Amino acid sequence: MNKGIIGLGTSLPSRRVTNEDLASTLDTSDEWIRTRTGIGARRIASDDIDVTDLATEAARNALEDAGLTAEDIGLIVVGTATGRAFPSTACVVQQKLGALNATAFDISAACSGFIFALQTARSMMDSMDKRYALVIGAEKMSSIVDWSDRSTAILFGDGAGAVVLGETKIEGLNAFELGTDGRGSALLFKELDGPIEMNGREVFKFAVRKLPEIVEKVVEKAGDTLADVDLLIPHQANLRIIDAARERLGIPEEKVIVTIDEHANTSAASIPLALQEARSQGRLRYGTKVVLAGFGAGLTWGASHITWTQGEEQA
Ligand code: UT7
Repeated sequence: MNKGIIGLGTSLPSRRVTNEDLASTLDTSDEWIRTRTGIGARRIASDDIDVTDLATEAARNALEDAGLTAEDIGLIVVGTATGRAFPSTACVVQQKLGALNATAFDISAACSGFIFALQTARSMMDSMDKRYALVIGAEKMSSIVDWSDRSTAILFGDGAGAVVLGETKIEGLNAFELGTDGRGSALLFKELDGPIEMNGREVFKFAVRKLPEIVEKVVEKAGDTLADVDLLIPHQANLRIIDAARERLGIPEEKVIVTIDEHANTSAASIPLALQEARSQGRLRYGTKVVLAGFGAGLTWGASHITWTQGEEQA
């Protein structure tokens, strides 16, 4: 049975924190942050909002977009690095939504979490005979950042994005390419009670090498060519990484969705948030071919070749 995305929703905290705001307490500048990362601002959630609130709001919006109710959902998979150890973010989202017919659990794959969750949900919909699934990427990165460390504090933001998967006329989730390399586990990590720690230069080198590699692989797996891909939606960690990958792949700038200037790095939420941006720019139509590609702590990486299955079929 063909499956695809039939609903999309997001959640962004209202508080916008600019680079200048950060430069008032940190030894940094708008100029440094913009030129080294492409980031101009990020959304930061207030203390009374946690990652389950962001995830739930994104999920509600995705359900509304799909025209479904919470009871219709048979599976909830959340990619997150900022939930509690237990219960899972997905179980709390299940409770908040009242999605009592769902099986709910989290995926731990850091910034690649949304792609890992998408592949997992797609496979489980077949093996468990589930009609509808919610796949969520949600992060409150501000809760795990050391706000006195300029090398990491400037990079991250909060937010969530969710998609509803359901039966579609044509297949919407054409191919996946997922992988991990635990030898890089010390390059980007968080101890149980500590903040994010990162070897930025090494992660940067890994990302610049891995991103084009997985895009090429997933396009080949889907039996497609790079020239026929309409949009590339990469994880938003650094504009220089995105540009380097794009140049290596020979993809024109206008085919790449960039949100890092306003969202910063929202880890597992960055790809669904960028999907929403693509849709609001009118770039997602029925049949649009999109490659989603992420990378992050683990090390982990994941790409998905999708066909957009919402909207009117083109004649
Ligand atoms: O989503 C998870 C995956 N994460 C990533 O993909 C992140 C990958 N890494 C990066 O994006 C980049 O490595 C960073 C943006 C984190 C850092 O950029 P960089 O060009 O690698 O800078 P750097 O760490 O080599 O630091 C260059 C200089 C240093 O000063 P010296 O040693 O040259 O005097 C840093 O101390 O910039 C300094 N620096 C800053 N200066 C102003 C580091 N952070 C800042 C800052 N403001 N916020």
